[in-house]
Amino acid sequence: MKAIVAIACDHGGLELKTALKAELEAAGRTVLDLGVNDTTSVDYPDYADRVADALKAGAAGLGVLVCGSGIGISIAANRHAHVRAALVHDAYTARMSRQHNDANVIVFGGRVIGEEVAKDCLKVFLATEFEGGRHQRRVAKLGPKA
Ligand code: RB5
Repeated sequence: MKAIVAIACDHGGLELKTALKAELEAAGRTVLDLGVNDTTSVDYPDYADRVADALKAGAAGLGVLVCGSGIGISIAANRHAHVRAALVHDAYTARMSRQHNDANVIVFGGRVIGEEVAKDCLKVFLATEFEGGRHQRRVAKLGPKA
């Protein structure tokens, strides 16, 4: 079964989130849109939390987050122990985030990346499996630290 994808953004990521959501739906994915849906200024940690909560509840299997730079929302998402959020810039980093890091959330900077490059990243992210093996040992060391 294809994983349901939870998607959210702040005001800096709305344009790209809208494009990525449409791309996911065109590909037949079920998308859980957790906002925002207008350009009112909001706080990006709240939207990272929404996607993290959806993953924790099992409402979605993978997440997509977008803020202006991609930095703040990925820091916020990675505060959750069950989230491995990867800020990607191209197909290579998108592929590695799955193969080596078992990322369950892909993150974009809506003011940084071009729309077509982001769509390509998302396609690669969804199509790539975790390699396991030595990477499993490393991923197991990614838990929270005091
Ligand atoms: C909002 O202006 C901006 O700070 C936010 O989208 C993001 O880039 C933070 O890291």
